Amino acid sequence: MSNKDQFVFSDTLSVTDNRTAQQYQLPITDGTVRAMDFRQMKVDVDDFGLMTYDPAFTNTACCRSAITFIDGERGILRYRGYPIEQLAETTSFLEVAYLLQVGELPTPDQLKVWTDDIRYHTYVHTKVLKFLEGFLYDAHPMGMLLGAVGALSTFYPDAKDIQNPANRYLQRVRLMAKIPTLAAFAFRHVRGLPFVFPDNDLDYIGNFVNMTFSIGGKHEPNPILQRALQILLILHADHEQNCSTSAVRSVGSSHVDPFSAVSAGIAALYGPLHGGANEAVLTMLDVIGDKANIPSYIERVKQGEMRLMGFGHRVYKSYDPRAKLIKRVADDVFAETGLNPKLEIALELERIALEDDYFVSRKLYPNVDFYSGLIYQAMGYPTDYFTVLFAIGRMPGWLAQWEEMLLDKEQKISRPRQIYTGYPERPFVPLAQRG
Ligand code: SDX
Repeated sequence: MSNKDQFVFSDTLSVTDNRTAQQYQLPITDGTVRAMDFRQMKVDVDDFGLMTYDPAFTNTACCRSAITFIDGERGILRYRGYPIEQLAETTSFLEVAYLLQVGELPTPDQLKVWTDDIRYHTYVHTKVLKFLEGFLYDAHPMGMLLGAVGALSTFYPDAKDIQNPANRYLQRVRLMAKIPTLAAFAFRHVRGLPFVFPDNDLDYIGNFVNMTFSIGGKHEPNPILQRALQILLILHADHEQNCSTSAVRSVGSSHVDPFSAVSAGIAALYGPLHGGANEAVLTMLDVIGDKANIPSYIERVKQGEMRLMGFGHRVYKSYDPRAKLIKRVADDVFAETGLNPKLEIALELERIALEDDYFVSRKLYPNVDFYSGLIYQAMGYPTDYFTVLFAIGRMPGWLAQWEEMLLDKEQKISRPRQIYTGYPERPFVPLAQRG
């Protein structure tokens, strides 16, 4: 009989600690073993026990979540089980925001209540305007948004009552309602334009566009561009445990109010390796300048001088399904606005990269940020505003994940361990004896 024939298969991991010859059977649940199950493995009674070491959590599940499913190998993305392709083509951003936060698509009555509740909360306190006016004329809008959302926690002290479901709902509505207002105000501030206040006769997207672009009266809406923006916000709405969402979860686990927790997410999203990549893509395309310069630029990337912004993903090891859908949105937008000359460089860059073994071997494909910036630019948004649009889109995902974390009985304050690499104990040296 072969070994395999004698083997008893089970959902356990057999571990032999070769330091002690001790053997352990660890249960395997949902494709994971619990890190705490390694703590029992000690070499003696004084031993703290084994920990797992996973810098940047590349192979560590931090939670159980029912919100978003991603299959990186097959390029699948689903919100609460619904394929992103179906949601992007057929729903509104507020429907998707409701789906992510409540768990089901809203009925017509539920959607009306949700929409009306959000419409009711679009204004911000006039003191917030003073706060925004304190920023320099050339302040980065993400820095303004980060500060303004954090500041909102001081206007709503009731938001600290996070154990109260009705209060959590009110704060989620406030954040959904006010993020477009704050974003539009940041846009107007850096241009020295007067703030345009919410017009609650308009829908969510129309109101945001009007607050942003209106010059003396209602902004003439372009339905094609507004539908394109709606789809882009839907595509950005959630993405499981990405950097900014795990920041919201981690900060929220201290039981701080949701405005403060979300401001941590905005800070994480600001980074060029995360949400800031859409801005970095346009800067990269500007640096490349012409299709003829692409081969030499690619060579510099392969030498490790810089990264191909908008390429690669921690989870997707095939094409990001959102990038495919965004390319289709680009066609509609450019048909309306005229072709963005940088699109040709982007398309050629993608073509070359997808044939080059450096990128193919590392499974580097265009991600959600590669084409989105080109569309935002064609819509009239400046490069440094693209990540603000990402933040508006990601707000429902942050809020859904924040509340799921609070309601998860397994969760508590987030506090990772470390491997200490510093000095062993050493005697203090008085100032007079140093150096
Ligand atoms: C978003 O997590 C999410 O879900 C994020 C997001 C969301 O919706 O929330 O999808 C949004 O943030 C998309 C990603 C946007 N960022 C960029 O486009 C910036 C450029 N891309 C990368 O820096 C990178 O690909 C990451 C940050 C996205 C992912 O990095 P990983 O998974 O940590 O990969 P890695 O850094 O370990 O790289 C693996 C290898 C390395 O080469 P070697 O050391 O093995 O030789 O691939 C190389 C990297 O140098 N590599 C790249 C590259 N990305 C990775 N080389 C050139 N260009 C790149 N873009």
